[in-house]
Amino acid sequence: MPKRVLLVFGTRPEAIKMAPVVQRLREHPALEPVVAVTAQHREMLDQVLALFGIEPDFDLDIMVPGQTLTDVTLRALEGLSPLMERERPDAVLVQGDTTSTFVAALSAFYHRIPVGHVEAGLRTGDITRPFPEEVNRRLTTQTARWHFAPTATAAAHLYAENIAPDRVSVTGNTVVDALLEVREMPYEFPPGPVADVLARGGRMILVTAHRRESWGEPMTRVFTAVRDIAQSAEDLSVFVATHANPIVADEVERILSPVDNAYILGPLEYLPFVKLMQASTLILSDSGGIQEEAPSLGKPVLVLRDVTERPEAIEAGVVKLVGTDTQRIVAEATRLLTDRAAYDEMAQVANPFGDGHAADRICDILARDLGA
Ligand code: UD1
Ligand code: UDP
Repeated sequence: MPKRVLLVFGTRPEAIKMAPVVQRLREHPALEPVVAVTAQHREMLDQVLALFGIEPDFDLDIMVPGQTLTDVTLRALEGLSPLMERERPDAVLVQGDTTSTFVAALSAFYHRIPVGHVEAGLRTGDITRPFPEEVNRRLTTQTARWHFAPTATAAAHLYAENIAPDRVSVTGNTVVDALLEVREMPYEFPPGPVADVLARGGRMILVTAHRRESWGEPMTRVFTAVRDIAQSAEDLSVFVATHANPIVADEVERILSPVDNAYILGPLEYLPFVKLMQASTLILSDSGGIQEEAPSLGKPVLVLRDVTERPEAIEAGVVKLVGTDTQRIVAEATRLLTDRAAYDEMAQVANPFGDGHAADRICDILARDLGA
Protein backbone atom coordinates (compact mmCIF):
# COMPACT_ATOMS: atom_id res chain seq x y z
CA MET A 1 0.00 0.00 0.00
CA PRO A 2 1.43 3.43 -0.94
CA LYS A 3 1.73 5.94 1.89
CA ARG A 4 -0.85 8.72 1.58
CA VAL A 5 0.37 12.30 1.74
CA LEU A 6 -2.31 14.95 2.18
CA LEU A 7 -1.26 18.32 0.71
CA VAL A 8 -3.29 21.24 2.04
CA PHE A 9 -3.08 24.71 0.51
CA GLY A 10 -5.28 27.70 -0.14
CA THR A 11 -3.71 30.60 -2.02
CA ARG A 12 -2.03 31.29 -5.35
CA PRO A 13 1.59 31.16 -4.20
CA GLU A 14 1.06 27.97 -2.20
CA ALA A 15 -0.52 26.31 -5.23
CA ILE A 16 2.37 27.31 -7.51
CA LYS A 17 4.90 25.99 -5.02
CA MET A 18 2.99 22.78 -4.20
CA ALA A 19 2.25 21.86 -7.83
CA PRO A 20 5.71 20.31 -8.41
CA VAL A 21 5.34 18.31 -5.19
CA VAL A 22 1.95 16.98 -6.32
CA GLN A 23 3.48 16.01 -9.67
CA ARG A 24 6.44 14.17 -8.10
CA LEU A 25 4.20 12.40 -5.58
CA ARG A 26 1.97 11.19 -8.42
CA GLU A 27 5.01 9.66 -10.12
CA HIS A 28 6.38 8.06 -6.96
CA PRO A 29 5.67 4.30 -6.76
CA ALA A 30 5.38 4.23 -2.97
CA LEU A 31 3.60 7.54 -2.24
CA GLU A 32 0.14 8.79 -3.13
CA PRO A 33 -0.90 12.46 -3.07
CA VAL A 34 -4.30 13.57 -1.79
CA VAL A 35 -5.03 17.26 -2.39
CA ALA A 36 -7.24 19.40 -0.18
CA VAL A 37 -7.64 23.09 -0.94
CA THR A 38 -9.04 25.47 1.63
CA ALA A 39 -9.67 27.87 -1.28
CA GLN A 40 -8.68 30.85 0.87
CA HIS A 41 -8.28 32.26 -2.64
CA ARG A 42 -10.78 31.31 -5.34
CA GLU A 43 -10.06 32.52 -8.91
CA MET A 44 -6.37 33.07 -8.16
CA LEU A 45 -6.11 29.50 -6.88
CA ASP A 46 -8.18 27.97 -9.67
CA GLN A 47 -5.94 29.61 -12.31
CA VAL A 48 -2.98 27.67 -10.93
CA LEU A 49 -4.82 24.37 -10.47
CA ALA A 50 -5.92 24.48 -14.12
CA LEU A 51 -2.41 25.23 -15.42
CA PHE A 52 -0.86 22.29 -13.57
CA GLY A 53 -3.80 19.92 -14.14
CA ILE A 54 -4.58 19.46 -10.44
CA GLU A 55 -8.13 18.49 -9.48
CA PRO A 56 -8.42 18.69 -5.72
CA ASP A 57 -9.83 15.68 -3.90
CA PHE A 58 -11.37 18.10 -1.38
CA ASP A 59 -12.33 21.74 -1.76
CA LEU A 60 -13.41 23.59 1.38
CA ASP A 61 -14.35 26.70 -0.64
CA ILE A 62 -13.91 29.00 2.36
CA MET A 63 -13.23 32.34 0.63
CA VAL A 64 -15.62 35.20 1.29
CA PRO A 65 -15.13 38.71 -0.10
CA GLY A 66 -13.35 40.97 2.38
CA GLN A 67 -12.53 38.07 4.69
CA THR A 68 -10.77 38.77 7.98
CA LEU A 69 -7.92 36.71 9.38
CA THR A 70 -10.39 35.30 11.89
CA ASP A 71 -12.79 34.27 9.10
CA VAL A 72 -10.04 32.38 7.28
CA THR A 73 -8.73 30.75 10.45
CA LEU A 74 -12.10 29.56 11.72
CA ARG A 75 -13.47 28.39 8.40
CA ALA A 76 -10.32 26.48 7.48
CA LEU A 77 -9.99 24.86 10.92
CA GLU A 78 -13.64 23.78 10.94
CA GLY A 79 -13.44 22.41 7.42
CA LEU A 80 -10.17 20.55 7.92
CA SER A 81 -10.97 18.80 11.18
CA PRO A 82 -13.50 16.25 9.82
CA LEU A 83 -11.33 15.74 6.74
CA MET A 84 -8.26 14.86 8.84
CA GLU A 85 -10.39 12.58 10.99
CA ARG A 86 -11.87 10.72 8.01
CA GLU A 87 -8.80 10.54 5.75
CA ARG A 88 -6.12 9.86 8.38
CA PRO A 89 -3.23 10.36 5.92
CA ASP A 90 0.27 9.17 6.79
CA ALA A 91 1.56 12.75 6.54
CA VAL A 92 0.27 16.25 5.89
CA LEU A 93 2.26 18.73 3.80
CA VAL A 94 1.81 22.48 4.06
CA GLN A 95 3.72 25.24 2.25
CA GLY A 96 4.90 28.68 3.24
CA ASP A 97 3.30 31.15 5.57
CA THR A 98 -0.34 31.87 4.85
CA THR A 99 -3.19 31.41 7.29
CA SER A 100 -4.18 28.24 5.41
CA THR A 101 -0.66 26.94 5.98
CA PHE A 102 -0.67 27.49 9.72
CA VAL A 103 -4.23 26.28 10.24
CA ALA A 104 -3.67 23.09 8.23
CA ALA A 105 -0.54 22.37 10.24
CA LEU A 106 -2.41 22.97 13.48
CA SER A 107 -5.28 20.74 12.40
CA ALA A 108 -2.91 17.91 11.48
CA PHE A 109 -1.17 18.32 14.83
CA TYR A 110 -4.51 18.11 16.67
CA HIS A 111 -5.13 14.83 14.84
CA ARG A 112 -1.63 13.54 15.60
CA ILE A 113 -0.67 13.36 11.93
CA PRO A 114 2.98 14.30 11.20
CA VAL A 115 3.42 17.59 9.36
CA GLY A 116 5.95 18.45 6.65
CA HIS A 117 6.60 22.17 6.19
CA VAL A 118 7.71 23.11 2.69
CA GLU A 119 9.66 26.43 2.62
CA ALA A 120 10.55 26.24 6.31
CA GLY A 121 12.82 28.58 8.22
CA LEU A 122 12.18 31.95 6.56
CA ARG A 123 12.38 34.75 9.11
CA THR A 124 12.52 38.53 9.18
CA GLY A 125 12.88 38.59 12.96
CA ASP A 126 9.96 41.05 13.23
CA ILE A 127 6.59 39.50 14.02
CA THR A 128 4.75 42.48 12.52
CA ARG A 129 6.42 42.28 9.10
CA PRO A 130 5.23 40.59 7.03
CA PHE A 131 1.91 40.51 8.86
CA PRO A 132 0.67 37.96 9.77
CA GLU A 133 3.03 35.68 7.80
CA GLU A 134 6.04 35.87 10.12
CA VAL A 135 3.92 34.46 12.94
CA ASN A 136 2.28 31.88 10.66
CA ARG A 137 5.75 30.59 9.79
CA ARG A 138 6.91 30.39 13.36
CA LEU A 139 3.74 28.63 14.53
CA THR A 140 3.96 26.17 11.64
CA THR A 141 7.55 25.38 12.64
CA GLN A 142 6.32 24.37 16.11
CA THR A 143 3.97 21.74 14.66
CA ALA A 144 6.28 20.20 12.06
CA ARG A 145 8.04 16.85 11.92
CA TRP A 146 9.83 17.64 8.63
CA HIS A 147 11.28 21.10 7.93
CA PHE A 148 12.07 21.46 4.22
CA ALA A 149 14.29 24.53 4.22
CA PRO A 150 14.93 26.15 0.82
CA THR A 151 18.42 27.42 1.70
CA ALA A 152 21.19 26.97 4.26
CA THR A 153 20.26 30.36 5.72
CA ALA A 154 16.70 29.19 6.36
CA ALA A 155 18.00 25.96 7.92
CA ALA A 156 20.28 28.01 10.21
CA HIS A 157 17.25 29.92 11.53
CA LEU A 158 15.68 26.59 12.50
CA TYR A 159 18.82 25.30 14.23
CA ALA A 160 18.98 28.57 16.15
CA GLU A 161 15.43 27.87 17.36
CA ASN A 162 16.53 24.44 18.63
CA ILE A 163 14.85 22.39 15.94
CA ALA A 164 16.65 19.02 15.84
CA PRO A 165 19.04 19.06 12.86
CA ASP A 166 17.94 15.60 11.70
CA ARG A 167 14.46 17.02 11.10
CA VAL A 168 15.73 19.81 8.87
CA SER A 169 16.60 19.25 5.19
CA VAL A 170 17.89 21.83 2.73
CA THR A 171 15.93 21.03 -0.42
CA GLY A 172 15.81 24.24 -2.44
CA ASN A 173 12.55 26.07 -3.05
CA THR A 174 9.91 24.30 -5.15
CA VAL A 175 9.05 27.63 -6.78
CA VAL A 176 12.16 27.17 -8.94
CA ASP A 177 10.85 23.75 -10.06
CA ALA A 178 7.55 25.37 -11.04
CA LEU A 179 9.14 28.34 -12.77
CA LEU A 180 11.57 26.29 -14.85
CA GLU A 181 8.71 24.09 -16.04
CA VAL A 182 6.38 26.95 -16.92
CA ARG A 183 9.11 29.09 -18.52
CA GLU A 184 9.42 26.48 -21.27
CA MET A 185 5.71 26.41 -22.13
CA PRO A 186 4.68 28.22 -25.31
CA TYR A 187 2.46 31.29 -24.95
CA GLU A 188 1.39 34.16 -27.13
CA PHE A 189 -0.21 37.27 -25.65
CA PRO A 190 -3.68 37.97 -27.07
CA PRO A 191 -4.18 41.29 -28.91
CA GLY A 192 -3.92 44.11 -26.37
CA PRO A 193 -1.42 46.41 -24.69
CA VAL A 194 1.16 43.73 -23.81
CA ALA A 195 1.20 42.35 -27.37
CA ASP A 196 1.42 45.92 -28.75
CA VAL A 197 4.40 46.87 -26.59
CA LEU A 198 6.14 43.58 -27.39
CA ALA A 199 5.59 44.14 -31.11
CA ARG A 200 7.18 47.59 -31.02
CA GLY A 201 10.00 46.48 -28.69
CA GLY A 202 9.14 49.01 -25.96
CA ARG A 203 10.50 48.82 -22.42
CA MET A 204 8.19 47.36 -19.79
CA ILE A 205 8.01 47.66 -16.04
CA LEU A 206 5.95 45.07 -14.16
CA VAL A 207 4.39 45.91 -10.80
CA THR A 208 2.61 43.86 -8.11
CA ALA A 209 1.77 44.83 -4.52
CA HIS A 210 -0.58 43.27 -2.02
CA ARG A 211 0.96 42.93 1.47
CA ARG A 212 -1.38 43.58 4.39
CA GLU A 213 1.16 45.70 6.28
CA SER A 214 1.23 48.05 3.27
CA TRP A 215 -2.52 48.60 2.97
CA GLY A 216 -3.43 52.30 3.27
CA GLU A 217 -0.72 54.98 3.23
CA PRO A 218 2.24 52.81 2.14
CA MET A 219 0.22 51.45 -0.81
CA THR A 220 -0.72 55.01 -1.81
CA ARG A 221 2.95 56.05 -1.72
CA VAL A 222 3.94 53.03 -3.81
CA PHE A 223 1.41 53.63 -6.56
CA THR A 224 2.16 57.36 -6.56
CA ALA A 225 5.76 56.36 -7.30
CA VAL A 226 4.58 54.04 -10.06
CA ARG A 227 2.61 56.92 -11.58
CA ASP A 228 5.64 59.23 -11.44
CA ILE A 229 7.89 56.59 -13.03
CA ALA A 230 5.38 56.02 -15.84
CA GLN A 231 5.11 59.76 -16.46
CA SER A 232 8.89 60.20 -16.45
CA ALA A 233 9.44 58.51 -19.81
CA GLU A 234 7.03 58.09 -22.71
CA ASP A 235 8.82 55.04 -24.13
CA LEU A 236 8.06 53.10 -20.94
CA SER A 237 4.95 50.99 -20.42
CA VAL A 238 3.98 50.06 -16.89
CA PHE A 239 1.89 46.93 -16.32
CA VAL A 240 0.28 46.37 -12.95
CA ALA A 241 -0.90 42.82 -12.25
CA THR A 242 -3.37 43.71 -9.53
CA HIS A 243 -4.32 41.37 -6.72
CA ALA A 244 -8.00 40.33 -6.60
CA ASN A 245 -8.38 42.00 -3.23
CA PRO A 246 -10.51 45.12 -3.84
CA ILE A 247 -8.67 47.03 -1.09
CA VAL A 248 -5.60 46.95 -3.31
CA ALA A 249 -7.26 47.03 -6.73
CA ASP A 250 -9.34 50.16 -5.94
CA GLU A 251 -6.26 52.16 -4.93
CA VAL A 252 -4.39 51.14 -8.08
CA GLU A 253 -7.36 52.18 -10.19
CA ARG A 254 -7.68 55.57 -8.45
CA ILE A 255 -4.04 56.54 -8.92
CA LEU A 256 -3.16 54.94 -12.27
CA SER A 257 -6.28 55.01 -14.42
CA PRO A 258 -5.55 58.58 -15.67
CA VAL A 259 -2.01 57.59 -16.76
CA ASP A 260 -1.84 56.69 -20.48
CA ASN A 261 1.19 54.40 -20.37
CA ALA A 262 0.11 52.52 -17.21
CA TYR A 263 -2.02 49.42 -17.79
CA ILE A 264 -3.99 47.68 -15.05
CA LEU A 265 -4.21 43.98 -15.84
CA GLY A 266 -5.81 42.18 -12.90
CA PRO A 267 -4.40 38.91 -11.56
CA LEU A 268 -2.67 37.18 -14.46
CA GLU A 269 -2.55 33.44 -14.89
CA TYR A 270 0.88 32.07 -13.97
CA LEU A 271 1.97 31.26 -17.54
CA PRO A 272 1.40 34.77 -18.97
CA PHE A 273 2.76 36.24 -15.76
CA VAL A 274 6.04 34.36 -16.18
CA LYS A 275 6.23 35.47 -19.82
CA LEU A 276 5.59 39.07 -18.74
CA MET A 277 8.37 38.85 -16.14
CA GLN A 278 10.70 37.57 -18.87
CA ALA A 279 9.72 40.42 -21.18
CA SER A 280 10.07 43.15 -18.54
CA THR A 281 13.08 45.37 -18.01
CA LEU A 282 12.37 45.89 -14.33
CA ILE A 283 10.00 44.51 -11.68
CA LEU A 284 8.62 46.42 -8.69
CA SER A 285 6.96 44.11 -6.17
CA ASP A 286 6.32 43.25 -2.53
CA SER A 287 5.71 39.58 -3.40
CA GLY A 288 7.72 36.83 -1.76
CA GLY A 289 7.53 34.44 -4.69
CA ILE A 290 8.65 36.99 -7.25
CA GLN A 291 11.85 37.65 -5.26
CA GLU A 292 12.57 33.93 -5.59
CA GLU A 293 11.75 33.72 -9.29
CA ALA A 294 13.53 36.82 -10.58
CA PRO A 295 17.05 35.43 -10.04
CA SER A 296 16.28 32.60 -12.48
CA LEU A 297 15.20 35.15 -15.06
CA GLY A 298 17.92 37.72 -14.43
CA LYS A 299 15.36 40.47 -13.86
CA PRO A 300 16.11 43.18 -11.30
CA VAL A 301 13.43 43.54 -8.61
CA LEU A 302 12.94 46.59 -6.43
CA VAL A 303 11.21 45.20 -3.34
CA LEU A 304 8.53 47.50 -1.96
CA ARG A 305 9.10 46.50 1.65
CA ASP A 306 11.31 47.54 4.58
CA VAL A 307 12.43 44.04 5.53
CA THR A 308 12.68 40.74 3.69
CA GLU A 309 12.88 37.11 4.76
CA ARG A 310 14.71 36.38 1.51
CA PRO A 311 18.15 37.98 2.01
CA GLU A 312 19.69 35.45 -0.40
CA ALA A 313 18.23 37.38 -3.35
CA ILE A 314 19.77 40.61 -2.10
CA GLU A 315 23.12 38.88 -1.65
CA ALA A 316 22.80 37.51 -5.20
CA GLY A 317 22.46 41.15 -6.29
CA VAL A 318 19.21 40.71 -8.27
CA VAL A 319 16.94 42.22 -5.63
CA LYS A 320 17.09 45.51 -3.75
CA LEU A 321 14.94 46.55 -0.79
CA VAL A 322 13.56 50.03 -1.42
CA GLY A 323 10.68 50.37 1.08
CA THR A 324 7.53 52.33 0.36
CA ASP A 325 8.78 55.93 0.22
CA THR A 326 7.71 57.56 -3.07
CA GLN A 327 10.93 59.52 -3.69
CA ARG A 328 13.16 56.55 -2.92
CA ILE A 329 11.26 54.20 -5.27
CA VAL A 330 11.32 56.75 -8.09
CA ALA A 331 15.05 57.42 -7.57
CA GLU A 332 16.01 53.72 -7.54
CA ALA A 333 13.89 52.92 -10.60
CA THR A 334 15.22 55.94 -12.49
CA ARG A 335 18.80 54.93 -11.75
CA LEU A 336 18.25 51.43 -13.17
CA LEU A 337 16.45 52.78 -16.21
CA THR A 338 19.11 55.34 -17.06
CA ASP A 339 22.41 53.83 -15.85
CA ARG A 340 23.37 50.82 -17.97
CA ALA A 341 26.17 49.69 -15.64
CA ALA A 342 23.92 49.82 -12.56
CA TYR A 343 21.30 47.82 -14.46
CA ASP A 344 23.72 45.18 -15.71
CA GLU A 345 25.10 44.73 -12.22
CA MET A 346 21.64 43.68 -10.98
CA ALA A 347 20.48 41.68 -14.01
CA GLN A 348 22.27 38.48 -12.97
CA VAL A 349 21.05 34.95 -13.68
CA ALA A 350 21.92 32.77 -10.67
CA ASN A 351 19.29 31.42 -8.34
CA PRO A 352 20.25 30.92 -4.67
CA PHE A 353 16.81 29.45 -3.94
CA GLY A 354 17.03 26.24 -5.89
CA ASP A 355 18.00 24.17 -8.90
CA GLY A 356 14.60 22.86 -9.97
CA HIS A 357 14.80 19.56 -8.05
CA ALA A 358 13.39 20.55 -4.66
CA ALA A 359 10.22 18.46 -5.03
CA ASP A 360 12.26 15.31 -5.82
CA ARG A 361 14.24 15.78 -2.61
CA ILE A 362 11.10 16.31 -0.55
CA CYS A 363 9.50 13.12 -1.92
CA ASP A 364 12.65 11.08 -1.30
CA ILE A 365 12.83 12.19 2.33
CA LEU A 366 9.14 11.46 2.91
CA ALA A 367 9.41 8.02 1.30
CA ARG A 368 12.42 7.16 3.44
CA ASP A 369 10.93 8.34 6.73
CA LEU A 370 7.48 6.87 6.10
CA GLY A 371 9.06 3.52 5.32
CA ALA A 372 7.45 3.61 1.89
C1 UD1 B 1 -3.01 35.97 1.20
C2 UD1 B 1 -2.01 35.56 2.29
C3 UD1 B 1 -0.64 36.14 1.99
C4 UD1 B 1 -0.18 35.79 0.57
C5 UD1 B 1 -1.25 36.23 -0.41
C6 UD1 B 1 -0.85 35.80 -1.80
C7 UD1 B 1 -2.81 35.31 4.61
C8 UD1 B 1 -3.17 36.00 5.85
N1 UD1 B 1 -2.47 36.10 3.58
O1 UD1 B 1 -3.19 37.36 1.30
O2 UD1 B 1 0.30 35.61 2.91
O3 UD1 B 1 1.03 36.48 0.31
O4 UD1 B 1 -2.49 35.59 -0.07
O5 UD1 B 1 -1.58 36.45 -2.78
O6 UD1 B 1 -2.87 34.11 4.54
N2 UD1 B 1 -9.79 37.68 -3.36
C9 UD1 B 1 -10.63 37.34 -4.40
N3 UD1 B 1 -10.29 36.28 -5.20
C10 UD1 B 1 -9.17 35.54 -5.01
C11 UD1 B 1 -8.31 35.91 -3.97
C12 UD1 B 1 -8.63 36.95 -3.14
O7 UD1 B 1 -11.65 37.96 -4.59
O8 UD1 B 1 -8.94 34.61 -5.78
C13 UD1 B 1 -10.14 38.82 -2.48
C14 UD1 B 1 -11.31 38.47 -1.52
O9 UD1 B 1 -12.09 39.62 -1.32
C15 UD1 B 1 -10.57 38.11 -0.23
C16 UD1 B 1 -9.43 39.11 -0.28
O10 UD1 B 1 -9.03 39.15 -1.65
O11 UD1 B 1 -11.39 38.23 0.90
C17 UD1 B 1 -8.25 38.81 0.61
O12 UD1 B 1 -7.76 37.49 0.45
P1 UD1 B 1 -6.86 36.83 1.63
O13 UD1 B 1 -6.45 35.48 1.23
O14 UD1 B 1 -7.56 36.98 2.94
O15 UD1 B 1 -5.61 37.80 1.73
P2 UD1 B 1 -4.46 38.11 0.68
O16 UD1 B 1 -4.16 39.56 0.79
O17 UD1 B 1 -4.82 37.53 -0.63
N1 UDP C 1 1.83 35.67 -9.95
C1 UDP C 1 0.93 35.30 -10.93
N2 UDP C 1 0.11 36.25 -11.45
C2 UDP C 1 0.11 37.54 -11.04
C3 UDP C 1 1.02 37.90 -10.01
C4 UDP C 1 1.85 36.95 -9.48
O1 UDP C 1 0.88 34.14 -11.35
O2 UDP C 1 -0.66 38.36 -11.56
C5 UDP C 1 2.71 34.63 -9.37
C6 UDP C 1 4.18 34.98 -9.18
O3 UDP C 1 4.95 34.65 -10.31
C7 UDP C 1 4.57 34.17 -7.96
C8 UDP C 1 3.29 34.14 -7.15
O4 UDP C 1 2.23 34.39 -8.06
O5 UDP C 1 4.89 32.83 -8.29
C9 UDP C 1 3.33 35.17 -6.06
O6 UDP C 1 2.08 35.32 -5.50
P1 UDP C 1 1.72 36.55 -4.56
O7 UDP C 1 2.53 37.74 -4.93
O8 UDP C 1 0.24 36.66 -4.59
O9 UDP C 1 2.12 36.01 -3.12
P2 UDP C 1 3.47 36.01 -2.27
O10 UDP C 1 4.53 35.38 -3.09
O11 UDP C 1 3.77 37.42 -1.91
O12 UDP C 1 3.12 35.21 -1.07
